[in-house]
Amino acid sequence: MGGMSQPPPGSTGAPFVGEALKFLKDPFTFTLSRTKQHGNIWKTKILSDTVVFFAGPKAFSFFMDPDNFTRQNGSPKFLQELLHPDAVPFLDGDRHKARRRLLLTAFTDPALDSYLPNTFAILKRFVDKWIGEGEKPIAGDLSQVGFDIADMLFAASDPATSNLQGAGDFALMNKGTFAPPVNLPFTAYGKAIRARDRLRTYIKAQVASKDGAGTALGVLKQARGPKGEQLSSEELEIELLHFYFAAQGGLTAALAWAFTVLGEHPELAARLRAEADAKLAADAVPNLQQVRSLDQARAVSREILRSYPIAPTTFIGVAKKDLEIDGYGIRAGWKGAGAIWATLQDGSTFTDPTVFKGDRLGDEAVKALPNNAFVPQGGGPPDGHRCPGEALIQLVMPAFFGWFTRNYGLTYAAQDASPGGGGLGPLPRSGVRVTITKR
Ligand code: HEM
Repeated sequence: MGGMSQPPPGSTGAPFVGEALKFLKDPFTFTLSRTKQHGNIWKTKILSDTVVFFAGPKAFSFFMDPDNFTRQNGSPKFLQELLHPDAVPFLDGDRHKARRRLLLTAFTDPALDSYLPNTFAILKRFVDKWIGEGEKPIAGDLSQVGFDIADMLFAASDPATSNLQGAGDFALMNKGTFAPPVNLPFTAYGKAIRARDRLRTYIKAQVASKDGAGTALGVLKQARGPKGEQLSSEELEIELLHFYFAAQGGLTAALAWAFTVLGEHPELAARLRAEADAKLAADAVPNLQQVRSLDQARAVSREILRSYPIAPTTFIGVAKKDLEIDGYGIRAGWKGAGAIWATLQDGSTFTDPTVFKGDRLGDEAVKALPNNAFVPQGGGPPDGHRCPGEALIQLVMPAFFGWFTRNYGLTYAAQDASPGGGGLGPLPRSGVRVTITKR
């Protein structure tokens, strides 16, 4: 480290807890307001750790560079324990690369194409049900949709029914990620651990008994590396459980904001429908090639991922050595994270960042952005820690817009669609109140 460098700015908060409570209460507001106050690189203290946050394309790229930060031992112990210390977000180096190479086979074009029929069987089951139900908030159902899609993809569950037991256990497990990590029968964390164990048992049985045609489970069972390596049953079970956690919240939030955008921007909804009418057949599941032709739906999907709070930050990493950026010194062993939300709301990359503009992120505009400017699912090199679900979400969202506007309509009364406070991926306060009609 250069002798002249100073530590990044930022406050350290109360003794013992640091700023952990502020961060957990609302990580979006916390990271965005600190970035506005201090600039793109700042530090805080979370429990006993100094954590440096990196916002904006340049600093974000610096954090994602595998020479600078490792994920090994980055995340808090209780989170590693809950998901499994051997899950891919906590691995680094060669083990991470080898595991990840196999996992990525679930996100190739042919694999993604094969998931569309089951995905739309689930969506159709819910949308058809809503038609009969009149005006209602659908956010609760969307959370079940997110679970059912994850359950179909990762445990080859039947798309024709909802797995309520599994969804209940999953909700208990999620609550444990925000609770004090005390494993006793009556604590939220203790309940989370036991719910996780029931999910593990369920997933193990599904892995053993299902071939998984049309699902990611099927693709991952078949995955082989260049030397014939494959995922062991145990590795599969670890990653599949972690995939639920990675996928369900994002899928739910993406769909909730998609419905909200259709309701709040009727002129945009009409343009999406015109595009769908030109490219898609009525009452049919769109295939990958058709979805790729929906240019406007793709741009709108990206702008949703940019402009609504879905993921606040990356997972946490650890500085591998003393580092320096923009005159700030970062010590070996300090923790760091990419400030996703602050990067997406950075006014020097995105003009009027708080405004939703459906045509802002067309293909050409995205190509012209600096590296690691559009980072709703993380960034950095493809064999690093960026979200492998990127390709899935960026296909499912435009596919949803095309399929829905082609076959259905919605009415949407004035409502408070601002993001509810706190947590990861808060949904609109109104709970997405809509009336669905068949076209
Ligand atoms: C809108 C939806 C989603 C959002 C916003 C999202 C966001 C993210 C973010 C921010 C990360 C952390 C990146 C980092 O630490 O550098 C991540 C990692 C990950 N996501 Fe997603 N994700 C979404 C959907 C999915 C889906 C559908 C899957 C399906 C399996 C998935 C699987 C993963 C995995 C496996 C990782 C860990 C990658 C690694 O560490 O190598 N995500 N995601």
